[in-house]
Amino acid sequence: MSVFLDFRSDTRTAPDAAMRAAMAAAEVGDDAYGDDPCVRELEEEGARLLGTGAALFLPSSTMANLVAVLAATPGPGTRLLMGAQSHIALFEAEGMRRFAGADPVALPERDDGAPDPDALAAALREGGGRPGIVALENTCMMHTGNALDPAEVDRLAGLGRERGAHIHLDGARLANAAVALGVPLEKLAAPADSVTFCLAKGLGAPVGSLLCADAEFVARARELRLLLGGTMHQSGVLAAAALEGLARVSRLAEDHALAAQLAEGLAGVPGAEVGDPPCPTNIVTVRLPGRDPDELRERLAERGVLVLPLPTGSVRFVVHREHRAEAVPLVVRALAEAALQ
Ligand SMILES: Cc1ncc(COP(=O)(O)O)c(C=O)c1O
Repeated sequence: MSVFLDFRSDTRTAPDAAMRAAMAAAEVGDDAYGDDPCVRELEEEGARLLGTGAALFLPSSTMANLVAVLAATPGPGTRLLMGAQSHIALFEAEGMRRFAGADPVALPERDDGAPDPDALAAALREGGGRPGIVALENTCMMHTGNALDPAEVDRLAGLGRERGAHIHLDGARLANAAVALGVPLEKLAAPADSVTFCLAKGLGAPVGSLLCADAEFVARARELRLLLGGTMHQSGVLAAAALEGLARVSRLAEDHALAAQLAEGLAGVPGAEVGDPPCPTNIVTVRLPGRDPDELRERLAERGVLVLPLPTGSVRFVVHREHRAEAVPLVVRALAEAALQ
């Protein structure tokens, strides 16, 4: 199926001609031996962009988050504090429990997607003096991809740090946040001790995520990646595509502009409630009051428009580089027809 009207995820981007050419030309080694030049270059470039000192290439953001929690965990039962609608809370908590022995604690969130500061402070106090982990997410996927205000992230990280917590940032879409806020990635990464940075979403690489942190933490993470079976061999082929993606951060502005156009069009459909976050990026959410999101997904799919239902009651449209403005009127018409059905 064409991606033209497929808005389920920005992971659905396929490597384009330039990426495939870079993959074909990639000089490779064996990353298990640390001598794959493209992987090294990717890790160095990621660490430079995020200002963290070091970075590790992993197969997915889920594994990057898990390795970060494992590397930061002082022992079994470590409390992992995060917003209740974050990707880690909704989809990774079981893995954190089973594989990292962590104790996930889901906190109420504010409308912008950040954990409520009072709830975070209270949960940190309840830790009984044992340092925990605070996991923040930016952008906030369930909150219509809102890019968090950097001052708020600083404040939340500061609350954790006062209590000796490790601050992890799930920045699967941190590049979108940097572009939407007009600030360097480094500034958004600075409040965290470790950052997951996805290469396979809006940046368009076929596979991979970087875990960015200082050299000591990354060395520990490298050992844990091996234990988890996440060490790859001639992964320079993948790193070459990801390097192409890293060079394209600024073009995410085009996705954001198209998402804004889509949100505006969908908001004109009678009865539609379109998510209106403080700092929108590449995600648009829509609900029709009284209408189950699964049913709305089906009605849209019948018209060739693919979306994902969310536990919040909305469906999500995620815009990426393969989408074009010509799709907007078709999607708006599909929603208008679905609303009448
Ligand atoms: C915020 C966030 N974190 C982590 C992930 C997991 O990414 P991956 O599919 O690379 O494991 C996702 C996936 O959509 C996500 O949206």
